[in-house]
Amino acid sequence: MPASRRGSGSFTLTTGQTIAIHTRTHDEEDLPHATKKTMADHLRKYESLFTLTPQRMRMIVEAFTETLELGLNKPNQIVPMIPTYVFGWPTGQETGDFLALDLGGTNLRVCLVTLQGEGKFEISQTKYRLTEEQKQEDGQKLFDFCAECLHTFVETNTGEGAGQLKPGQSLPLGFTFSYPCSQERIDHGELIRWTKGFGAGNTEGRDVAEMFKKSLEKYQLPIKLTALINDTTGTLIASHYVNPKTKIAVIFGTGCNAAYMEHVKDISKIEHLGIDPGAEMAINCEWGAFDSFEHEHLPRTKYDTIVDDTSNKPGEQAFEKLISGRYLGEILRLVICELIDEGVLFLGQNTYKLEKPYCFDTAFLSLMESDPTDELLMVIGIFTHFFALETTLAERQFFRALAKLIGRRAARLSACGIAAIVSKMGHLEEGCSVGADGSLYNKYPGFADRVHEGLQDIFGDKGRNIVTHHAEDGSGVGSAIIAAMTKHRKDAGLYLNV
Ligand code: GLC
Repeated sequence: MPASRRGSGSFTLTTGQTIAIHTRTHDEEDLPHATKKTMADHLRKYESLFTLTPQRMRMIVEAFTETLELGLNKPNQIVPMIPTYVFGWPTGQETGDFLALDLGGTNLRVCLVTLQGEGKFEISQTKYRLTEEQKQEDGQKLFDFCAECLHTFVETNTGEGAGQLKPGQSLPLGFTFSYPCSQERIDHGELIRWTKGFGAGNTEGRDVAEMFKKSLEKYQLPIKLTALINDTTGTLIASHYVNPKTKIAVIFGTGCNAAYMEHVKDISKIEHLGIDPGAEMAINCEWGAFDSFEHEHLPRTKYDTIVDDTSNKPGEQAFEKLISGRYLGEILRLVICELIDEGVLFLGQNTYKLEKPYCFDTAFLSLMESDPTDELLMVIGIFTHFFALETTLAERQFFRALAKLIGRRAARLSACGIAAIVSKMGHLEEGCSVGADGSLYNKYPGFADRVHEGLQDIFGDKGRNIVTHHAEDGSGVGSAIIAAMTKHRKDAGLYLNV
């Protein structure tokens, strides 16, 4: 009998589930396994598929920059470059109590934010879980649920004791709705399309702010919707509030997107609005849509094509599908399934558990990459606990190397997007900070380093001038600051224009 080992640990999946694993395995098993050499040969093949050379990255940056320009010049482009009506940076002196509602992915979050000025704030919050049905059913029902959660939250947090509301008073609300919405003013937003697997009916093409106001009325809540914002815009403003070197914000979560501050004079598609050309306005790029439909610029593998074809929105969000947390685990799973079909992996074992689409959580990639043990006990744990599969060390090393390739490609592609904004805005010489948030950025080991390395591959040494940092909570604090900025503008008689 070969020597056996034990491994144990616990971790939390993106679904919120916390898992404890205790693993017992053998160094060698009786099952037929691929040899070390076979795995190394396969790895070489995937290396060439998933690796992005600096030269290729520079080509992507060039195409990306042109796409950004196009979106600013013409309406209704694939990368829509959405004007947000968030004018300029916060002063840091914004104060007051604000509600923030955050609908953007797995959870719904309600926050009460007290801005205290001088970049300080307090926040209390509650999260509510969204079911798959709620994401797919009817849009109005989804907003009714948001209002219901707000109702519960306001009752608990602003009643007596909390002492927030006087009779007749209403709380301003910043609604972070993290899907592409084209806006005509800050409290309006027509949903262009659902992304990240959402598909609630009767919502695309409609003004979600209006729909949400209807739901607020149903519950007769003492709340006024002041601003509808994207998570990237909130992150941009919140990060600048605490770190004024911030010029760009990126979300690396279930989705991937960026926002930055643009000169109004360079947003030609809104010239007719007569806004002061000297002003600045935040742009929500919706860059996840880069290279959608045409697929001209991005290096897609056949696994990416399968992810796309089998998604609820084939052709769309081409860039996002190579990067965001929603898809990375699935890409890796598809590679493994191909090797199972070719008879390379898991011969004689029942692989049905691994054959279920999206069963391989992206959190597994980061866990595999951060496994500190020589035997890769965490990898053993994942495969035995979740998929009832025995692995050899050579196979585990292969899975880990594959995770690295997929994670690294995601980071390097993100660097291309950041580089496009940096080049377009001329931030390279002076340098700037990029506020970044989302599970991939916060939890994937080495993700930030790989983005930085990518920036240096694109720009050479000067790439060091661009540094990402963990952003402030954009959809909570950011949305409150934007609500405060908006209120200030309204009080000063500047609702639509500067
Ligand atoms: C998706 C959404 C976008 C959001 C991003 C990050 O790309 O379309 O609005 O900012 O995910 O949450």
